[in-house]
Amino acid sequence: MLDLDSISEILREKLDPKRYLHSLGVQKVAVDLAVRYNVSIEKAAIAGLLHDCAKNLNNNELLQLSSKFDILLDNVLRNNIKLLHGPVGAELAKYKFCIEDIDILNAIRFHSTGRENMSPLEKIIFLADYIEPNRDFAGVDQLRSIALSNLDRATLMAFEHTIEYVLKKGDLLHVSTIHARNYLLLDINHKRS
Ligand SMILES: [Fe+2]
Ligand SMILES: [Fe+2]
Repeated sequence: MLDLDSISEILREKLDPKRYLHSLGVQKVAVDLAVRYNVSIEKAAIAGLLHDCAKNLNNNELLQLSSKFDILLDNVLRNNIKLLHGPVGAELAKYKFCIEDIDILNAIRFHSTGRENMSPLEKIIFLADYIEPNRDFAGVDQLRSIALSNLDRATLMAFEHTIEYVLKKGDLLHVSTIHARNYLLLDINHKRS
């Protein structure tokens, strides 16, 4: 596994400056949340830094790599190819950055769609991506403060914000995002039988 400085150096070359700064912001917030919720700081730092490692790829490259890595394309992914930067990023993290830890790889894989029953690290990366210091949207400060007191509630709010945003834009909504939101809501309300 590469160390953080080497990963950071490679990403600085690969990503555009804004995306690189965003990745550093996600790394920082992920570490803060990992400390708060007793999750491995090292895993949070690596996953945060690497989560957008495939974001610089164009649609053709994302499709080619998806085929190479046998990533299954559903209708939504086929029509919203940028969403593939999560699953493709996980494969690049594994094969280019030599990350073996499955929780780190899953945090990268599911950071844009989410999924049911996310691990604490997966929630932390999803949330850190949302609230890192370069993000600016109505409600971000409230979300930042809830993130420090209740990980599940903040993650649920971030999913609901994503869903509203996607609907307003008239984009396709990935079914995993709905599953992630419903699962969290049931978890919070202790309603799962
Ligand atoms: Fe992303
Ligand atoms: Fe991101």
